[in-house]
Amino acid sequence: MLLLRTREELLAWRAGSPAGSPVAFVPTMGYLHEGHLALLRHGRALAGAGSLVLSIFVNPTQFGPKEDLARYPRDEAGDLAKAEACGVDVAFCPTDPAVLYPNGTHTWVEVEGLDRHLCGATRPGHFRGVCTVVAKLWGLVRPDYALFGEKDYQQLAILRRMHADLNLVGEVVGLPIVREADGLAMSSRNSNLDPRARQDALAISRYLQELRIRFTAGERTAAGLLQDPAAALAPGRVDYASLVDAEDLQPARVVTRPALVAIAAFFGGVRLIDNCVLHP
Ligand code: PAJ
Repeated sequence: MLLLRTREELLAWRAGSPAGSPVAFVPTMGYLHEGHLALLRHGRALAGAGSLVLSIFVNPTQFGPKEDLARYPRDEAGDLAKAEACGVDVAFCPTDPAVLYPNGTHTWVEVEGLDRHLCGATRPGHFRGVCTVVAKLWGLVRPDYALFGEKDYQQLAILRRMHADLNLVGEVVGLPIVREADGLAMSSRNSNLDPRARQDALAISRYLQELRIRFTAGERTAAGLLQDPAAALAPGRVDYASLVDAEDLQPARVVTRPALVAIAAFFGGVRLIDNCVLHP
């Protein structure tokens, strides 16, 4: 596995990679868990005899000033061992943010509309940071396949739109949420939960499961499906609990087309997200 640190190294590798040999790409912020590894294994299969590229970069521009950039978990050595075991060919791990944000650059990528609600509303500027860094990485890696998880459903929807609108090469591949055995959606941030908050956080997946049961029983209204999220997620503090159209991510009052239930809540100061899609 090649470990590359700079733009120049990555561009040189890409220029030398054989034409017609597929490249699969999994961008991450590291502290890899089974959710990331599922993307890597799928990428390995899609790339075949071609190359699997992983990036690890804790992207400062997608964190708000009061968010957890400083305490975002990191373990590069552990990540590289996992990456190697998944058959990664190239790990792009810039150590200095200036590699992707050289002095004086002020180009931002913003997808309008899809960022109006959910994390786009409660984390202003977040998706601008995500789109900008992913667009930069896209230009360097020029992937045939770029893989993302449905755990970050809104991010995936926005990146699909960016990919289409900017005529980026390759295709976007989305993969389902990977969960712990007890239901908690895997996340690098789970490592910041103390044992008490880790236990309390199960309320999210339990809530989604109960909501699914109400849906299966015939409930179709947002009010009937969501009921009282603050009570259901207590002692977690709800950031949002919303029902939106699964495609345009605008609020839905009744489920007549596929709809997304998206949750963000704080447990012991750690912000967690989860979701499920309801198909009428
Ligand atoms: P990160 O949170 O590290 O996630 C990297 C990829 O792994 C994303 O596509 C995310 O949706 C996926 N992922 C995370 N947890 C998952 C789970 N439990 N099941 C399935 N997939 C999961 O998302 C980011 O980094 C950043 O915003 C990034 C796109 C790298 C831009 O900085």
